[in-house]
Amino acid sequence: MPEYLVLVAPSANRVYADAAPLLVEAEARVVASALAGPDVSVLRTVLAGVDYVQVQVLEDTQGRGLRALSNLSATHAIFQREGELLRPVPLARMERYPSDLLTIQKYRGKTNEQWTRLVLNVTAAAARRPERWLDGGLVVLDPMCGRGTTLNLAMSCGYDVIGVDLDRQDYEAYGAFIKTWLRQHRLKHTVSEGALRISGENRGRRLELQAAATKDAFKTGDLQQVTYLSTDTTALDGLLKSASVDLIVTDTPYGVQHGSHGDRLSRRPLELLATALPGWTRILRAGGAVGLSYNRHVAPQDELADLLRANGLECVQGPGYDDLRHRVDASIDRDLIVARKA
Ligand SMILES: C[S@@+](CC[C@H](N)C(=O)[O-])C[C@H]1O[C@@H](n2cnc3c(N)ncnc32)[C@H](O)[C@@H]1O
Repeated sequence: MPEYLVLVAPSANRVYADAAPLLVEAEARVVASALAGPDVSVLRTVLAGVDYVQVQVLEDTQGRGLRALSNLSATHAIFQREGELLRPVPLARMERYPSDLLTIQKYRGKTNEQWTRLVLNVTAAAARRPERWLDGGLVVLDPMCGRGTTLNLAMSCGYDVIGVDLDRQDYEAYGAFIKTWLRQHRLKHTVSEGALRISGENRGRRLELQAAATKDAFKTGDLQQVTYLSTDTTALDGLLKSASVDLIVTDTPYGVQHGSHGDRLSRRPLELLATALPGWTRILRAGGAVGLSYNRHVAPQDELADLLRANGLECVQGPGYDDLRHRVDASIDRDLIVARKA
């Protein structure tokens, strides 16, 4: 059985860099068991002082297995083990756009890009049809998207994406960034923006854009649709259709003064989630999954799980899911909880 070693990417963030090898190991377990069953061997290992995640991939699923490994949140390179030697394997990344789409924006309160990717990957793997993760074509909602880390990531994976945030400054900053970025990279796109009015009532602002990675893709209509609604995520009725998204992923407010002005909007994340979840669940398709990144100090795991179940969702468990918890700083003990709609 071919054995691959995933070299873990160095992270710009020191705290995250320390946790990254363990997190990639857990992420690889979740993804491997969703795509190939629980018997795939995934192990963290150190070779010549360097961290790797070692994965045995079944011969008949090799192409798909390598594509999955290429798209883990912190894959830097992949090698096939041949006796004592490591042979480099070409990566098969999903990225449609230059990687600076995700890295240029720097601001207080930005969710770490590698963690955002892990949240998206694990949530996609938890859906009823996990194979859709690698095929593009998913519709993703980040109902508290800030300045759009998830929007940029989902777009680069070839998904359609909708973001919602109440903070007008975040909305303006994202709009200014994405329009400039698309222009500077000479990527064909269309933009439409204006007031968000439903039945004569003003509910905020909306930005809708369509973009394609190449001119040919634009011509043939192979587009990514990005929508940003600047409105309250607890009141989405009439704004987004029922059963219209495949995945909901978000980094919930940490409930602490941590540089994110967003946290001033909600000091009590559980109360916010209790109000928002009925609307979010309505928008999710059957078989779709929700992944919430949260701070255990302000949102105990069992209370969050009860809340998800009370909204008719089934918490997803299995190899890897219990190993995603990590310390960000003294006030943030971060974890991910994932649930599926029957
Ligand atoms: C942890 S931040 C998300 C950061 C984002 N992932 C990024 O990288 O930019 C949480 C977000 O929740 C938003 N938020 C809090 N309460 C909200 C509400 N009622 N409706 C919409 N957004 C809300 C805040 O404005 C903040 O941007």
